[in-house]
Amino acid sequence: QMTAQIGNFTFKHLFLNASGVYCRTKQNLDDLLDNQATGGIVTKSATLRSRKGNPNPRYHSILNGAGSINSMGLPNYGLQYYLDYLLSKSFDKPTILSVAGTSFDENIELLKQIQDSDYQGMTELNLSCPNVVGKPQIAYDFETTNKILTEVFKFFKKPIGVKLPPYFDLNHFDQIAKILNQFPLDHVNSINSVGNGLWIDIETESVVIKPKKGFGGIGGKMVLPTGLANVRALRERLKPSIKMIGTGGITSGKDVFAYLLCGADLVSVGTQLGIESPKIFNRLESELAAIMVEKGYTSVNEFRGKLKSL
Ligand code: DHB
Repeated sequence: QMTAQIGNFTFKHLFLNASGVYCRTKQNLDDLLDNQATGGIVTKSATLRSRKGNPNPRYHSILNGAGSINSMGLPNYGLQYYLDYLLSKSFDKPTILSVAGTSFDENIELLKQIQDSDYQGMTELNLSCPNVVGKPQIAYDFETTNKILTEVFKFFKKPIGVKLPPYFDLNHFDQIAKILNQFPLDHVNSINSVGNGLWIDIETESVVIKPKKGFGGIGGKMVLPTGLANVRALRERLKPSIKMIGTGGITSGKDVFAYLLCGADLVSVGTQLGIESPKIFNRLESELAAIMVEKGYTSVNEFRGKLKSL
């Protein structure tokens, strides 16, 4: 038994795409849905208007696939494109509409438009995009995060969660959890990319992506310990009604098992999904199933959140 529940939504498989990867076009989203082991789909974070994003090159695989660096700059087709898609047919899996305004007011307007639409799926407010020049990652500013969520819940009545950046200080976990626990959030998705890393090509003595003088968000296998720490630390601090999506560095069934031990309800896969395409979910599911058989577990509920300390 490998399922999860977030609010009123039942996920029959545990795997989502991490927003940004394989989800910018309707065709990408259809391809994800066509895969049997896909638990649900997440859209590219939408802004009010279509954006081209940052100049190329803006994505680079590093250390033979063990990581990625990106500064995409929110290329997306605009909220209406994703709303049109989500309202164009009925889905047999839950859908998550991700939005990432580049200002306080844009975030509010995006959510007002979703509230006023016929969309009845899940929404995820991305508080952690590191790649828009001049725009800070909102969730590193606790006061602004509190202000946005206070404003949002004055009018937003649909199921909603937030996407967080990684934190690296235990005091920051206390602070963000205290804020999030004040609100009727359905989920927290952790982590976004590890912001503003740098990769260098030794032969050319140059950075490898063009935007922001080469600085970009780091993803892939190398961020797994950070992702696990964030899910564990937040699970221990968030109220039980806030479910968790674990994201960051998953490449195998073992990694999925580790996120579940930390308390993740679902997991999402970014960098490695880009490498392997949606069929990765079948591999991860069969690897997880094999681990469960070997350990004698018949349901993920028997070990979810049960990480042992020494
Ligand atoms: C982008 C990157 C992110 O990590 C994010 O959360 C949103 C957008 C981007 O560069 O497009």
